[in-house]
Amino acid sequence: MNKPEAQPVHSLEPRYYTDPAIFKQEMSGLLTRTWQFAGHASELENPGDYFSYEIAGQNLFSIRTRNGDIKTYYNVCQHRAHELVSGSGNCGVIVCPYHAWTYELTGELRSGPNIKSVPGFDRAAIKLNEVSTENYCGFVFVNLDPNAEPMGEWFPNAKEELRAFVPQIDDLKPVDWVGVEEQCNWKVSIENYSECYHCSLNHPAFANGVVKPETYDIQPQGYCLRHTTECQNLDHMSYPIDPDSNEHASEYSSWFLWPAFSFQVYPGNVLNTYHWRPVSVDRVAVWRGWYTVGGVASEIVRQLAVQDRETTVEEDIRLVESVQRGLMSRGYRPGPLVLDPKNGVNSEHSVQTLQQWMREAVDTEAAPHS
Ligand code: FES
Ligand SMILES: [Fe+2]
Repeated sequence: MNKPEAQPVHSLEPRYYTDPAIFKQEMSGLLTRTWQFAGHASELENPGDYFSYEIAGQNLFSIRTRNGDIKTYYNVCQHRAHELVSGSGNCGVIVCPYHAWTYELTGELRSGPNIKSVPGFDRAAIKLNEVSTENYCGFVFVNLDPNAEPMGEWFPNAKEELRAFVPQIDDLKPVDWVGVEEQCNWKVSIENYSECYHCSLNHPAFANGVVKPETYDIQPQGYCLRHTTECQNLDHMSYPIDPDSNEHASEYSSWFLWPAFSFQVYPGNVLNTYHWRPVSVDRVAVWRGWYTVGGVASEIVRQLAVQDRETTVEEDIRLVESVQRGLMSRGYRPGPLVLDPKNGVNSEHSVQTLQQWMREAVDTEAAPHS
């Protein structure tokens, strides 16, 4: 009997990228039960240091407690819902600006004007609503799912590998955040980041630069997409590298943590990051983070950030925004993904994996509510 002929796998239907109802569903579903980057722990150096931000449309703040933990709370008073903090700063206790209810850094209600006059008022029962938080090598991640599995379960081995590639990671501080807003659905940007089938045509600096494109590969590792490659001879790098300084000093590597964060390491153990914040169905904020030991200004890192913004980032914006316009076209039917059984740089395996996760997130979410 003849083997049935394999059928190509087709790209995701456009509605996943263009339908505001699906975006709403992701905001209330996927983005509330996955690990999202909040900020860097070095911004919370002392007890009482805090910063606020928005994840999945929810206003949150992270704060350093007196015993050194980092906790995250919904930024809302348990009295009549005023927001507790704005921006960033330091506080000894958390005082609500509306009626001065006061909370410990650990979330318990400590006092409030005249609350003792209320018969049956149970102060001990009132606590700020806490959000799961992990300090991942100095990077603070939060998950709005109270039963979230730890990041180690989601991204097996990633932390250990990252530590081996960036031995100085615990001493790093951010020196630059470069943000751009792309006029596309966040998943278009993520897919573009996660395949290099487009690289030789669109990123000349990539194709003729540090990495050996023919060795570039991207494979899932739990919910991490692991980018690996061999590098060219590093004699012509724009900055000096001592390849013998440690095991991975002459390598490039990257760990994309589903759904919206990536660690990248350039030769010389230079860490940089990407994180994405979905804004609306057709807009996403993309941030590039750059770090040095102690946050000391570095001409090398500054130049890398400028070069990156002017080449890769700029080149990718044009691609993803064109794709978003294309996804709105009545003339588009999702085409077959190029899945080379041998994997490699010209295969879209990683897109297939991402699109499974994307579909899973929306379709399984739809079921219980329909
Ligand atoms: S709303 Fe916060 S004290 Fe009243
Ligand atoms: Fe790209």
